[in-house]
Amino acid sequence: MAFPGSDRKLVLLTGAASGIGRATCLRLVAEGCDLFIIDRDGPGLEETKKRAEALGATVKTHQIDLSEPAAVLEEMQPIIDQFEIDYLVNDAGLGFARTTEQTTLAEWDLTFNVNITATFLFCKMVLPQMLARGAGAIVNVASAGAIVGLKNRVAYCASKAAVVGLTRCIAADHATQGIRINAIAPGTVGSEWIEKILSDVPDPVATRKMMEARQLDGKMGTPEEIAEGINFLLSPAARFVNGSVFVMDGGLTAV
Ligand SMILES: NC(=O)c1ccc[n+]([C@@H]2O[C@H](COP(=O)([O-])OP(=O)(O)OC[C@H]3O[C@@H](n4cnc5c(N)ncnc54)[C@H](O)[C@@H]3O)[C@@H](O)[C@H]2O)c1
Repeated sequence: MAFPGSDRKLVLLTGAASGIGRATCLRLVAEGCDLFIIDRDGPGLEETKKRAEALGATVKTHQIDLSEPAAVLEEMQPIIDQFEIDYLVNDAGLGFARTTEQTTLAEWDLTFNVNITATFLFCKMVLPQMLARGAGAIVNVASAGAIVGLKNRVAYCASKAAVVGLTRCIAADHATQGIRINAIAPGTVGSEWIEKILSDVPDPVATRKMMEARQLDGKMGTPEEIAEGINFLLSPAARFVNGSVFVMDGGLTAV
């Protein structure tokens, strides 16, 4: 199990340097997991590592830009093969505030490379060892934007809908082989991501109000709330949950 010589469960998590990814790392460490964490943001990764180690985890970091699929496969597969991964969380993601006309091909490709192709690749790299052991659980972080269309988020919503499709197909292919895979679809979550968006718009106060109003109770979610959902989906308590889209959106998609 896990890192050589350890009897703790090992989680491989992408997008660990901030927001939902970091909160999920710390939540899973509280469950007794060790971490193999990946992000392009080196200082952010080190901060997550420091916080997780303070809680007793063994942590390995790997800094990599996930936007180059061939390089990701070549660089990561030999490293992944050194460890026994119990849980995989594909959390790394990005988005551009653009309509179809405004979206460049480069922005479309970047969004798809990180949000869906990297998710596919990490599933592809980790699944063989999970299937060989007949055990493992995967959570892919999608979005409420995979379920409903959001304004100005064309490439983002399309890529997250693809994450849901990938998740369902992997569940269909491997449900009888001891692994489970689910997607989680957060609504608007007050992470570093949202702060970045707000720092880049002409009227941040009005934009924040609009984002908050999308949730039925007028409040954004927190990274810790989404981490709770991811922890549940990975846990044995979710044995009967497979190929699902677990919506945690404060009611954004309910109306
Ligand atoms: N915050 C929200 O409102 C919200 C809502 C729905 C879904 N999500 C999804 O949740 C996930 C986490 O988002 P967050 O809100 O925590 O945002 P965040 O910006 O805090 O975290 C995203 C992480 O992904 C990493 N990342 C981005 N591009 C990368 C690349 N090319 N290579 C390697 N790492 C890369 C970033 O460095 C960052 O650490 C994303 O997939 C996002 O689409 C977020």
